[in-house]
Amino acid sequence: MLRSLARNFKFGTNDLVRKPARFYSRNGRAGDGRLEGKVALITGSASGLGKATAHEFVQQGAQVIIADVDTHLGSQVAYDLGSSAFFVPCDVTDEAQVAEAIHIAVARHGKLDIMYNNAGITGPAIPPSITDLDLNEFDRVMRINVRGTVAGIKHAARVMLPVGSGSILCTSSISGLMGGLGPHPYTISKFTVAGIVKSMASELCRVGIRINCISPTPIPTPMSLAQIGQFFPGLTQEQIVAIVDGFSELKGVKCEEIDVARAALYLASDEAKYITGHNLIVDGGFTSFKNLGFPSLDQIA
Ligand SMILES: NC(=O)c1ccc[n+]([C@@H]2O[C@H](COP(=O)([O-])OP(=O)(O)OC[C@H]3O[C@@H](n4cnc5c(N)ncnc54)[C@H](O)[C@@H]3O)[C@@H](O)[C@H]2O)c1
Repeated sequence: MLRSLARNFKFGTNDLVRKPARFYSRNGRAGDGRLEGKVALITGSASGLGKATAHEFVQQGAQVIIADVDTHLGSQVAYDLGSSAFFVPCDVTDEAQVAEAIHIAVARHGKLDIMYNNAGITGPAIPPSITDLDLNEFDRVMRINVRGTVAGIKHAARVMLPVGSGSILCTSSISGLMGGLGPHPYTISKFTVAGIVKSMASELCRVGIRINCISPTPIPTPMSLAQIGQFFPGLTQEQIVAIVDGFSELKGVKCEEIDVARAALYLASDEAKYITGHNLIVDGGFTSFKNLGFPSLDQIA
């Protein structure tokens, strides 16, 4: 209902609630203005990594469009962020809605500096054998993770091109670097996202638009907790978080949403002015090595 109203009258559902006029400051830390004056649109920013990135961007002085298919959480996130954020209902599988969200960003702020194609799903948690793969499920994952990303790049490039600048980000995954870390459709989609970035960089660098990729390791967000939780139905949320945190190879630290948000902040900002076509892997070294499985002495006959 709110969504169709928003579409018909070209406003976001967060216009329907009174917003607090305050500047969001995460953990009480004031931002240092690394995105001052920038306008960003983040898909999939009603939750998880996109939401954390929206918080970080606002803290750093950006105006952020929260574009998500979840109208309830999306408008809540925009409300919480205050006057620097605006929610636009957007299903990335529908090209017209992606174009519309970008149109709204430009109509409100006169430009789009940063486009972050982050919306994604894992698909079914239990990876079936390729022999049993449901191709409709495969299409569903590809429509969101791949087609949605391409649509975002296409329409962002249309508004960035006349200006001759812009920073586009896409979320891949360590599942886009190695096989066996996720279900086949998800893995294929994330390899594709990394490939899309390379392909687009070849064209967009000639017009001054940068495009980069972020490939995170598992982080306890609603998506990964729901997925891993299906393998361990009896466990509490805290226990599942501990499992995800336990994947870390880097001693003494675990990967958190803020680590992706800060990677996005760097790539989006002018500090990365000469970085394009890059895949920034946020995995604490996980995909950099494998250990040889030496047997212990008592295992050797
Ligand atoms: N959390 C992880 O462990 C992890 C690791 C590597 C990569 N990623 C990737 O990070 C991205 C964000 O994942 P997350 O963990 O924050 O998940 P999440 O489920 O917390 O957030 C994903 C958001 O995307 C939105 N979304 C889903 N389908 C959409 C659509 N069709 N149109 C618009 N929005 C849609 C959801 O409503 C949700 O708000 C995804 O691309 C995911 O594949 C996540």
